[in-house]
Amino acid sequence: MRLSALLALAAIALPSSAAEAAQDPYSYAEPDKVRVRHVDLDLALDFPARTIAGTVTLELDWREARADMPAAGTLSLDTRDLTIERVEALDDAGHAQALSYTLAAPDAELGSRLGIAAPGQPVRVRIAYRTAPTASGLQWLDRQQTADKQAPFLFSQSQSIHARSWIPLQDTPAVRFSYAARVRAAQGITVLMSALRQPAQGEVQGFSQPQPIPSYLMAIAAGALAEQATSKRTAVWAEPSQVAAAAREFSDIEAMMRTTEQLYGPYRWGRYDMLVLPPSFPFGGMENPEMTFLTPTVIAGDKSLVSVVAHELAHSWSGNLVTSATWRDIWLNEGFTTYVENRIVEAVYGKTQADEEFVVAAGELRHKMQSLSENQQRLAPVPREVGADDALTDVAYVKGAWFLRFLEARFGRVVFDAYLRDYFDHFAFQSITTEQMLDYLRANLVDRHPGKVDWDQVEQWVYAPGLPESATLPAVAAFTAIDTARAAFLHGTLGAAALPGGDWNTHEWLYFLDHLPEAPTLVQVQALDAAWRLARSSNAEIGMRWLPRAIRAGDSSAWPAARAYMLRIGRMKLTLPVYRAFASTPAGLAYAETAYAAHQAEYHPLTRQAIEKVLRKAHAQPEATP
Ligand code: BES
Ligand code: ZN
Repeated sequence: MRLSALLALAAIALPSSAAEAAQDPYSYAEPDKVRVRHVDLDLALDFPARTIAGTVTLELDWREARADMPAAGTLSLDTRDLTIERVEALDDAGHAQALSYTLAAPDAELGSRLGIAAPGQPVRVRIAYRTAPTASGLQWLDRQQTADKQAPFLFSQSQSIHARSWIPLQDTPAVRFSYAARVRAAQGITVLMSALRQPAQGEVQGFSQPQPIPSYLMAIAAGALAEQATSKRTAVWAEPSQVAAAAREFSDIEAMMRTTEQLYGPYRWGRYDMLVLPPSFPFGGMENPEMTFLTPTVIAGDKSLVSVVAHELAHSWSGNLVTSATWRDIWLNEGFTTYVENRIVEAVYGKTQADEEFVVAAGELRHKMQSLSENQQRLAPVPREVGADDALTDVAYVKGAWFLRFLEARFGRVVFDAYLRDYFDHFAFQSITTEQMLDYLRANLVDRHPGKVDWDQVEQWVYAPGLPESATLPAVAAFTAIDTARAAFLHGTLGAAALPGGDWNTHEWLYFLDHLPEAPTLVQVQALDAAWRLARSSNAEIGMRWLPRAIRAGDSSAWPAARAYMLRIGRMKLTLPVYRAFASTPAGLAYAETAYAAHQAEYHPLTRQAIEKVLRKAHAQPEATP
């Protein structure tokens, strides 16, 4: 299809303003009628019952004039698997008046709409509720599943649309609110949230998030936790046995913050703390404001995977400060953040490492792009054809970052850095669409510096599938040498032990492994493993690239290590490739299913869902090739 035709098609289907974006297809909220502006939580954690119970008070900003309202206005909220016990309106004196409500039958993807009859547009509505033990946004761990086995553990993961499984609210990134919380927990349990901690009062721990944030940044964690400072305004939280290693691994956090502040303006959130979660945490990191959540798999011992921390920190500007208004615009969060992450890595660890990391990511993108639909290859896909999380592929991250690298190269760093800083200022604490970003880009960068970039090129980056020809990569000398060595090895002219792998850093290993065939020969796999002990690597990113190849090559001696890996690590990006490799043969599938059946209770609900999808698909098409 010609670009112009494609753009015409896109223009029909895409929201072009914040008002239209208010119609989020993944939420029942009606933000054009009423918006939540503050959330007040009073919660109690019940570990034996695996429930959170309490009240949420929503402070409302009614947009519709009272006169236009039908006799009874409605407040439409998102919920999933919640038990609603009571809904009431509060007047200024705090007197409660019961409101009637209906909880609709659940939609598999969206959950249940909670429709509250709200005559007279009350400013405060209080809901008493409890969560289900199976809440999709929470994981409850027994003490045996933690590192120190001292106390049970709870953590949330709200992005993309799981906040609704632990708080009834308007679960759309288009709506922002401040929040306060009081959480009751048993003695010895420390509670953390995406907020600043207030002094505890007895068994009640208090929190305050004064900045307006979108609902997917609501977060809570609780367990036996220790804190270690990494600078005046940063600290690491983890189980006591892990906190020292974590603080060492993330000791550059203050340097990362200063770098980002120099580039893009002050950090606006007060503290930046990090929480290391148990290994079942389903992501690498999550940018919960003031309390980034991290997988323990980034603690490699040599800081080789700390770009995840740079990434989550970068979200303090791109994502948490300037937020994509819908899930279709998520590249505004993840693409900008991946770009900023790489700038932080360059400033703190040097240009070689930054270039290596980007070239590795670009290689993964090119590879994955082949299996994506045309729509998914767009930075801004046509919405509604994709689920809330489906826009979150390498396209949003790496193609998004690549687009900004293209702009940086054309306008030069001085101009582009200043532009980006102004962009963060201009849209601070707002949720915006791709089109709002483009209007600003056109007026403040492209038109101000004529002759550097054609607007057509910008539209091609944002709306067309694939990668434009203007997508260039830095030359990395070490990688060129690795390509030569790999080719010689695959040709049989260089033995595995003669590869100069002893000189390679982690990123160079990742690059070597990424460009091996998906299914090397058994002889190649055995030779590489004998020389370099790859199946036993303690670096999780190496395992994710090696183990699936060993399985596909038919090396059953790698199965126990692969099994241990996939049962130990719940981070979906790492564990799913191992399941997929096992699922590519009937014997492997049976082996993976047995392992999964025995341990499924230890996985996060999202990881469980994703693994089950892989296993089901393998049964549906038994002889599917990898
Ligand atoms: N916000 C994301 C995690 C996320 C995305 C959760 C979509 C749920 C839905 C986070 O900032 C992220 O991108 N994490 C990456 C880290 C990486 C790219 C450095 C991850 O988890 O792998
Ligand atoms: Zn991210």
